[in-house]
Amino acid sequence: MKSRKILVTSALPYANGDIHLGHLMETIQTDIWVRLQKMRGHDCLYVCADDAHGTAIMLSAEARGITAEELIAEVKASHEADFAGFHIGFDNYYSTHSEENQQLSSSIYQALDANGHIARRSITQLYDPEKELFLADRYIIGSCPKCKAPDQYGDNCEVCGSTYSPAELIEPRSKISGAVPVEKESEHFFFRLPEFRDMLKSWTRSGTLQNQVANKLNEWLDDELHEWDISRDAPYFGFEIPGSPGKYFYVWLDAPIGYMASLENLCKRSDYEFDDYWKADSEAEVYHFIGKDIVNFHTLFWPAMLSSAGYRTPTAVYVHGFLTVDGTKMSKSRGTFVNARTYLDHLDPEYLRYYLAAKLSSGIDDLDLNLEDFAQRVNSDLVGKVVNIASRCAGFIGKGFAGKLALEPDNLPLLEEIQGAAEEVSQFYEQREYGKAIRLIMTFADKANQYINDKQPWVIAKTDKQSSELQAICSTGINAFRLLMIYLKPVLPAMAEKAEAFLAVDPLKWSDLDTLLLDHTINKFKPLMTRVEMDKIKAMIEQTQKNYETQQSSAKKATKADQQSEQDNTGFEPIIEFPDFAKVDLRIAAIVAAEQVEGADKLLRLKLDLGKDKNGETIERTVLSGIKSAYAPEDLVGKLTVVVANLAPRKMKFGVSEGMILAAGPGGEDIWLLSPDSGAAAGLRVT
Ligand code: MSP
Ligand code: ZN
Repeated sequence: MKSRKILVTSALPYANGDIHLGHLMETIQTDIWVRLQKMRGHDCLYVCADDAHGTAIMLSAEARGITAEELIAEVKASHEADFAGFHIGFDNYYSTHSEENQQLSSSIYQALDANGHIARRSITQLYDPEKELFLADRYIIGSCPKCKAPDQYGDNCEVCGSTYSPAELIEPRSKISGAVPVEKESEHFFFRLPEFRDMLKSWTRSGTLQNQVANKLNEWLDDELHEWDISRDAPYFGFEIPGSPGKYFYVWLDAPIGYMASLENLCKRSDYEFDDYWKADSEAEVYHFIGKDIVNFHTLFWPAMLSSAGYRTPTAVYVHGFLTVDGTKMSKSRGTFVNARTYLDHLDPEYLRYYLAAKLSSGIDDLDLNLEDFAQRVNSDLVGKVVNIASRCAGFIGKGFAGKLALEPDNLPLLEEIQGAAEEVSQFYEQREYGKAIRLIMTFADKANQYINDKQPWVIAKTDKQSSELQAICSTGINAFRLLMIYLKPVLPAMAEKAEAFLAVDPLKWSDLDTLLLDHTINKFKPLMTRVEMDKIKAMIEQTQKNYETQQSSAKKATKADQQSEQDNTGFEPIIEFPDFAKVDLRIAAIVAAEQVEGADKLLRLKLDLGKDKNGETIERTVLSGIKSAYAPEDLVGKLTVVVANLAPRKMKFGVSEGMILAAGPGGEDIWLLSPDSGAAAGLRVT
């Protein structure tokens, strides 16, 4: 068999949210496929990354007072841990915010531009004058122009279903600042997609796509193909467009290039060669696994970009449907929007891998995780059938024969039948008909159990624990179990590993199906999987609900705080009672050092001396303060200021601030600290 060179990807999860069961449906589907290829001896690489760019990530970081870089690093670590928890075996998990991706994105863009595939023109969009930011549709909220329903987003009304342009909303507001958006013009860059109509028509019909997907695309390709807006104006978290200061690549331009960048990064650390996979005449196979919501990015823009830039196009894009739970869309309030981590806190990852495999097909229909069916299916198939085969035979082999197997090679129709399905099972996996593969495998599990039932080894054991017939029956059972575990290994890698330890064999490969364990000693049997308990499923759902409620109530608190600060700005001062004031520890402090904060427009970093504590130790604080417009750092050293000494440290974009200094004045250049006076009463309390 000729070994294939294969590159596989799953869609890159956004770096501003947790991995949830919907993502896992995709990565588990991909991982099973990849594991099959590897077990069959093919040279298959599986790469992925976090999709780290865009306005949403910029705003989440801002809301948390950290930099976007800090946010995406934190999220990446948690995504990687979640995927590892589900045994997703990436060869590389990277980030689109990387050097490799910046270089590839720039060079691909430059190629498109050089080929005349980039257009430039001014467009008018809604703009948040307060936040100084162009507003994507989802950041604009207002009343529906048709039915007047309040709080409708962007360009369609959830109440009456009408569509409109966001500018038509009644009393539109920016969701970010609450400001009334204004129209503003700016130049945007467009990828000339319509020029690729012919190329795409033949590409989408060349066996690269499932029929349902190709048919849908052909409708689009026959009429509406628009130029694609690939630029965004600053402020934006992404890559600046070469030669165009203040313009950034739209996140969806550099996201699929992230597949290449993740491979490139792997190549730097290994013997793999980037060109083997991506050069125009590459013989390697490239597959993207994606959900049905992101088809146009992968089957129109992406192949068109690749062909313009002189790279090969994907061998195929495999689209799957959406995961629903108990028949409906995953819902946070119902507790069915389950995070990877919450699942892992309660349940074995292989339950989910198995259940999804049992239900997956090559189509794009949605897949329902029915929680009762889930428990029942896993318990009856894996615990009740597969593990049962091993546990029914292992004891007799251990006790009567010191773990030694002995088979009668000429009397093995059961095992030969199981072996004979190798090609069929691998074809089902290859075609992503996992459900069919599992059904076939389970018929063999049934047959193996039936064989044991018929032979009744426990009856023989009652009279002779060392009968060679008993040994042959149980050895057949153990061999059947081994063959089934080879078939199931792409789905259940951890259980397969335990089985390998029990069977005392090297990691199982597909070619091991050709052999049997004849004269071989196995180890003591340990339980390979425990039953799914409904209680644990309930606890997982409850925890999801609880997480959601806590999140809701803290969001409510945050909204209150926002309203509060809005009131402050408009001059409505909340009255505080004396006990509240008494909590504030105000002290006079001397500024002992002051410096610029790199990258910050308004901030200076101050080191303050708050006097001595009761042990005579100097109390020092580092404070980030927005007074750069009024003071140069060198003018501040030696000045005194009033500081709130007991403010909880706050993680800000540029570091932790351990307090807050008080200043007077209207702002800008007119901000006043206490007058300079060396040696004065540092550490005095303000009374
Ligand atoms: N960042 C983009 C993908 C860029 S690829 C160059 C994105 N990210 S995502 O986090 O929203 O989704 C990642 C993948 O998970 C997508 O393929 C998406 O279809 C899939 N799923 C997200 N929710 C899903 C379900 N409920 N069910 C199945 N897959 C789902 O899109
Ligand atoms: Zn409406």
